[in-house]
Amino acid sequence: MCGIVGYFGHPDQTLDTLINGLRRLEYRGYDSAGIAITQSDGKVFVEKSIGKVVELEKKIANIKNLDNLFTGIGIAHTRWATHGSPSTINAHPHQSYNKKVLLVHNGIIENFAEIKNNLQTKGYEFYSDTDTEVLANLIDFYYSGNLKQAIQNALLEVRGAYAIAVVSPLEPTRLIAAKIGAPLVVGMGTNEFIIASDVSAIIGKTRDVIYLEDGEMVDLDVDTFKITTFDDKELLKDTQYIDWNEEEATKEGYDHFLLKEIFEQPKAVIDTTRGRLLPNEADIKFGGLLDINNKMSTIDNITLVGVGTSYYACRLGEMYFESLTKLPTRAEMSPEYRYKTTLSGNTTWGICVSQSGETADTIGCIQEMKKKGSLVTGIVNTVGSTIARITHNGVYQHIGPELSVASTKAFTSASLLLLMHAISVGRQRGLDFTDAENLVRDIALLPKYIQSVLDHNKDIESIAHKYYQSQNFIYIGRHYNYPIAQEGALKLKELSYIHAEGMSSGELKHGSIALIDNNIPTVAICTQDAFFDKQVSTIQEVIARNGPVIAIVNDDDNIVQNFTPDIIRVPKTLTSEIQPLVSNIAQQLFAYHIANKLGVDIDKPRNLAKSVTVE
Ligand code: M6R
Repeated sequence: MCGIVGYFGHPDQTLDTLINGLRRLEYRGYDSAGIAITQSDGKVFVEKSIGKVVELEKKIANIKNLDNLFTGIGIAHTRWATHGSPSTINAHPHQSYNKKVLLVHNGIIENFAEIKNNLQTKGYEFYSDTDTEVLANLIDFYYSGNLKQAIQNALLEVRGAYAIAVVSPLEPTRLIAAKIGAPLVVGMGTNEFIIASDVSAIIGKTRDVIYLEDGEMVDLDVDTFKITTFDDKELLKDTQYIDWNEEEATKEGYDHFLLKEIFEQPKAVIDTTRGRLLPNEADIKFGGLLDINNKMSTIDNITLVGVGTSYYACRLGEMYFESLTKLPTRAEMSPEYRYKTTLSGNTTWGICVSQSGETADTIGCIQEMKKKGSLVTGIVNTVGSTIARITHNGVYQHIGPELSVASTKAFTSASLLLLMHAISVGRQRGLDFTDAENLVRDIALLPKYIQSVLDHNKDIESIAHKYYQSQNFIYIGRHYNYPIAQEGALKLKELSYIHAEGMSSGELKHGSIALIDNNIPTVAICTQDAFFDKQVSTIQEVIARNGPVIAIVNDDDNIVQNFTPDIIRVPKTLTSEIQPLVSNIAQQLFAYHIANKLGVDIDKPRNLAKSVTVE
């Protein structure tokens, strides 16, 4: 949450690099944005704006001829409000009362109130509601000619999670950044450095990066590039190469990143499974699992952890693991799980799912599980992210950046990786060769199944347009389709702001059926599996109460079509494990078309951020 960028390099590229970086990081928060660039005349150019980065750009477009004064050093920020409402005053960079320090910040300073009271007694005045302004003033308070020293002293007093970048008009050629508990990466360009919350803000300039760990800071000045600990021990860190490029971060002709990412899913599945499927051996190969093979023999239970869409992937994974490995498995929602008293133990295998690899609650769970001696694996998309680095081992999704705030291709890929892990462990624990072989072959067919749903995009759009004015939706499914119904409802809520509830169809008649009338459509996943007949009965119960039903059925369905005209057909898969992933694609398109018809901001829904780095 919140994106920070810092630039140290060529004066004439400072503004562009910072603005481009903000555009790339905007998915992390977009209620306001701001920029500060030090000038050779001892002043600092500062501009802020409420709303998206484009609003800041409009303001800056009116300001000409400043770059001849720029020193080539600046910081910028795109905000997701925590302390204080979205406003220009609360937007970063925050300048200290005595104007010695400007700071951008991602995270939360937990003891800000106490520090603020203290500084007020020393004559400091505050203008915003933010914790960030407090930190800027604390650094100002400690400043006596050395910015780094002042930051180090201030950070000794601070509790919380943060990544910061700081400049000062008193040292206009210096840029310092530091982090604890929030991501920060340094791009190593040619005679220039870019500091950012993640690599997407950097790849336009360089693909060589250094990830900072907690308690580390970078100090950039004329002839100085130093990474040190907070207590000043110098570190020599390896540079890593980022192997995805800028084209992957553009819309490529689609109206929205979301639509592009939905349509990318056949390729995403191919990329996720590349080199990992062994159809002739009815098995799966994961390089990462080889590292932990010896520990696997001690495992007698599995806990899958994630939140939001990643949690629904875990709910599906829970069923895959139980059925294919026979190991007791539970899916846990990370904001709750980290505070449970009977957390995992040393015979638990924790698998943590996170597209961004930066979700604070999931990171909290990993830390707790590691303390309890559990083996912890990460299923992560973002290369080099915190979760990728702090888990014992991991598997990357390899699906390229997911830029739309609502997660689509990451859900398909993460669920698939959980299934593949379940097959792999299942094979070591007696999973039948033929059953495993069918699963592996069906996974290989998944891109084709998905493409076939995408080919029905227009039909799905027509049904979406019929229902886009409804105020409430119910989504129902059974067994594997239960988490899929929940995921379908979440997608509709976050994209269109229409209220939706996803539940087990078995649960409907235990209360929620009271809601059903002709104003509440029900999306029913009714593909041909072991629960088909029961699902047909539930659909009839809804129709008997005048509830409209949108049914997701298999291509050859000739039963459900007799009860409702609103049918979305999806191909029938070989196995019941793959079918829910195919049905979900139809739900993604349905939610997309409703949101598009309503004219809302699809890629950046209100109040959300892609990467939730605060608890
Ligand atoms: O990056 P993560 O997978 O850890 O993110 C978890 C959730 O914040 C995320 O899935 C969220 O629910 C999405 N907006 C859903 O579309």
